[in-house]
Amino acid sequence: MRSSDDVVSFAPGRANLIGEHTDYNDGLALPFAIEQGIHVIARPCASAEVLANAVDHGERERFPLSGLSPKERAGGWRDFVRGAIGELQRAGHELSGAELEITSDVPEGGGLSSSAALEVALCLALLAVAGSDELDDRVSLARLCSRIENEWVGARTGLLDQLASLCGRAGHALRIDFRTLSVNPVPLELGDWQLVTVPSGEQHSLAESGYNERREESERAREQLGLDSLRDARLGDLGNLPDPLDRRVRHVIEENARVEETITALHARDLEAVGRLLDASHASLRDLYDSSTDAVEETVERLKRDGAAGARMMGGGFGGHVLALLPPNLASPPDAHVVAPSAGARLSAPE
Ligand code: GLA
Repeated sequence: MRSSDDVVSFAPGRANLIGEHTDYNDGLALPFAIEQGIHVIARPCASAEVLANAVDHGERERFPLSGLSPKERAGGWRDFVRGAIGELQRAGHELSGAELEITSDVPEGGGLSSSAALEVALCLALLAVAGSDELDDRVSLARLCSRIENEWVGARTGLLDQLASLCGRAGHALRIDFRTLSVNPVPLELGDWQLVTVPSGEQHSLAESGYNERREESERAREQLGLDSLRDARLGDLGNLPDPLDRRVRHVIEENARVEETITALHARDLEAVGRLLDASHASLRDLYDSSTDAVEETVERLKRDGAAGARMMGGGFGGHVLALLPPNLASPPDAHVVAPSAGARLSAPE
């Protein structure tokens, strides 16, 4: 039962049109928020604790409002709640007791950013219950949410997912420049074309996959090149790097360029060209970044065989969903979900 004191937060998952493994290298990406995401209904309570009900997991837990430390791990969704409380307090927010009910319609471990959606929805709900409105500074909130993931969950992810969830705009993708953190909406007009996501059948966990290893490799390559970030790397630098670092850096340089080319193709309404860029991104993630798996390859090959204009792995890789661009009149495969560019995270009144 909801009461008038309830607040409801919603944070969407995201699809990433192109620009993968570029965020933690100060590069470019072109994600968009999707319709699916995480709802948190929050109600103030008198005791100094958060009582959270993870409805889809059928699990409940009490979290104290003091004494939480990122050094202890509780596992799964609990670390996100602990991290949201801990990071909001570390940022100076005074939190009050709350009961939270968490529900999701975005698949977990699927590359659709259920993690960032959970971080953002929890933070908005806890802030709203405490009477604080942090929504004016979405970039700072994205940084705070990414610290939850880095320090409390253990995945050294960048800011792609949190910025997409917080800054999403209906009908638009977002050109994000991770060096300046500027976010610019780009119209994503598909006409009769469709963007769909298809599960590879393999879940991934960013904290446990090769994701952190790729990030370390990027750092090693950057150090060996003596650069502030791989955004400044040039193809001419590759001869100075051993394998596989040279391949990792080539991916980052060329993927940044593909983001700009995709924006040009979207402005020209040339969706065939967008499809070719998605294919090129996938080939690079597979051959240069080594982040594909057999299940992902089978899914991409099936989609291409059935007529997709482009198909590629999405998000951190090592499993998860494949994004495909389908031309007009091509039926969507039975296991596909249409993803439409949607509005970003928000608070709403209870129904
Ligand atoms: C995951 C991470 C992001 C980003 C992508 C790869 O989704 O959470 O920060 O690095 O992988 O582009």
